[in-house]
Amino acid sequence: MPTPDEVVDRMLRMAQVTKDDLVYDLGAGDGKIAIAAAKKFGARSVGIEYNADMAKHAQGNAEKAGVAGRARIIQGDIFVTDFSQATVVTLYLLPALNMKLRPTLLQMRPGTRVVSHSFTMEDWEADEISNMDGRRAYFWLVPANVNGGWTLDNGGEKAELSFEQRFQKIEGTIGLGHSQGGLRDARLRGFNISFAYVDNNGVKRDYTGRVTGGKMEGSFRADNGTEGRWSATKK
Ligand SMILES: C[S@@+](CC[C@H](N)C(=O)[O-])C[C@H]1O[C@@H](n2cnc3c(N)ncnc32)[C@H](O)[C@@H]1O
Repeated sequence: MPTPDEVVDRMLRMAQVTKDDLVYDLGAGDGKIAIAAAKKFGARSVGIEYNADMAKHAQGNAEKAGVAGRARIIQGDIFVTDFSQATVVTLYLLPALNMKLRPTLLQMRPGTRVVSHSFTMEDWEADEISNMDGRRAYFWLVPANVNGGWTLDNGGEKAELSFEQRFQKIEGTIGLGHSQGGLRDARLRGFNISFAYVDNNGVKRDYTGRVTGGKMEGSFRADNGTEGRWSATKK
């Protein structure tokens, strides 16, 4: 059961695939997603297919399409073969297989794009759902892990920052002397984070930055015109 061409096209566009990407199609079938990623988008791609005859047939299709240099179909089990180097992962499997893959996908590099034809990731809600004649394609950005306590450094002035995270959804608080302020507009998209809070002078401060492991760095801007750089370190 291959994914129809227009759905393949939308999946690869949702993931904004370019020549700089390494696309892994998990459960490659006849190889059409891996082949399209290479042929139409110039990416490097790998399809992992359990069925040895199918994998051979798919590799033949890649050769016929003239993209065998960039698209490879390998015989393997998606629960064994390492695909951690992928920048984009595509899926057309079954609900239970998506859920079995979910912990591995969530451990991938923040910002990795994941697209699934037909099947969801249950309570890890999609960042985009596209429809093609009743067929759905779901898109997720793998979120960074920011859950827990951080020390915020506003260019010398420190404060305690705390996030509660469920997949890409975050809420948080900031220590403001005797009170704990709630964060506003807290948002995590891959490794990009933004939030705001109102300080003890009643001034709203907006933060945007980037998460790299146990560090965050970025710039802030306050309603009173103050601007600067900030960083935060995981506790
Ligand atoms: C519905 S087809 C999708 C093919 C292709 N990705 C597409 O969208 O056109 C799913 C494929 O996943 C393969 N598959 C299922 N479980 C797998 C596993 N654990 N490892 C590798 N391939 C698997 C099946 O053999 C089948 O060819």
